[in-house]
Amino acid sequence: MASASIEHVTKRFPGGEIAINDLSLEIRNGEFLVLVGPSGCGKSTALRMLAGVEDVSEGVIKIDGRVVNDVPERKRDVAMVFQTYALYPHLSAFENIAFGMRLHGMAQEDIEACVGRAAEILELGPFLHRKPRQLSGGQQQRVAVARAIVRDPQVFLFDEPLSSIDAKLREQMRVELRKIHRTLRSTFIYVTHDQVEAMALGDRIAVMEAGVLQQVGTPREVYDHPANLFVAGFIGSPAMNFIPVSVSGRTAKARALELELPYGPHLDEAILGIRPEALSQRVSAGGAMIDMEVDLAENVGRDQFVHGLVGGDAIVARIDPNVKVTQGERVRLAVDTRLVHLFDPKTGLSVL
Ligand SMILES: Nc1ncnc2c1ncn2[C@@H]1O[C@H](COP(=O)(O)OP(=O)(O)OP(=O)(O)O)[C@@H](O)[C@H]1O
Ligand SMILES: [Mg+2]
Repeated sequence: MASASIEHVTKRFPGGEIAINDLSLEIRNGEFLVLVGPSGCGKSTALRMLAGVEDVSEGVIKIDGRVVNDVPERKRDVAMVFQTYALYPHLSAFENIAFGMRLHGMAQEDIEACVGRAAEILELGPFLHRKPRQLSGGQQQRVAVARAIVRDPQVFLFDEPLSSIDAKLREQMRVELRKIHRTLRSTFIYVTHDQVEAMALGDRIAVMEAGVLQQVGTPREVYDHPANLFVAGFIGSPAMNFIPVSVSGRTAKARALELELPYGPHLDEAILGIRPEALSQRVSAGGAMIDMEVDLAENVGRDQFVHGLVGGDAIVARIDPNVKVTQGERVRLAVDTRLVHLFDPKTGLSVL
């Protein structure tokens, strides 16, 4: 295992498109780091530059402290699992996993032991004799992960390896991947557009938008203290509610809402951010009350998400799933003011 660092890296494609803009990111030895952001924000490009299959336009990439800008892919000691898993169609799962070891002339006995171990971790035992077309998407994906594991690289790079797997298996694979990481204690750099997956997997997550890094931190840090409006809206589901407010002293006011902030920001206008779970039907000490006109309730078993309007602003609240609410009803909600966020509408930056 090794650390990796990306220092002031920019990627400009020949057409002039800037896919990555001055990205700096340290990935620690043995860390599970997740790069997350919407489609097209540059995640795959960043990973491909780490892998050495894409040139760097500006800046430096280091693996284990060594500059690798000019080191070709096969000499970087990284293994990449792609979005499309690129298995050899004419080879069995076993031979796909063993491919690199055969190239290196490893003894049959050792190959069998290695493939056996990887197959056990990934529960591929019964499928090893099958060709890729005889495997489900999830099984093919696991073969691709197994192929990376047997290479025992310094750094694992994953590009949305779970994106084509159905929801249930994806959850299982998430747990598997964490266990694999724990077992291998290797450095994992993992790309996904799915913030739930990012939160579940990452020791730390790096949030990107349009080629620009927005924030890096533990899932908890990023969730509890989003640095800006983009991160606040991107991380968390249902998304954070945003309400334009006017501010005077410590008081934030909207059409049908007035609350006391922990302290007075130096702004007249701001965007108030309230996560659905910061709204409840339980009255808490120091909380403000708002009235919501219910439009729609989504009961998802453990939670109930109620969509409605507060003074014309669309709001989602998470309430007790045992409480029945109907369209048109007015419900009184308490805002936990310790959990609210405030953003500068001009810069988008958090000011609380
Ligand atoms: N070879 C290329 N030439 C020109 N532009 C490219 C090339 N490859 C990618 N891009 C552009 O660079 C940007 C980043 O692409 P990238 O594939 O890194 O996004 P991504 O975050 O991985 O998206 P997704 O979640 O859809 O996989 C996109 O706007 C894309 O159109
Ligand atoms: Mg991609």
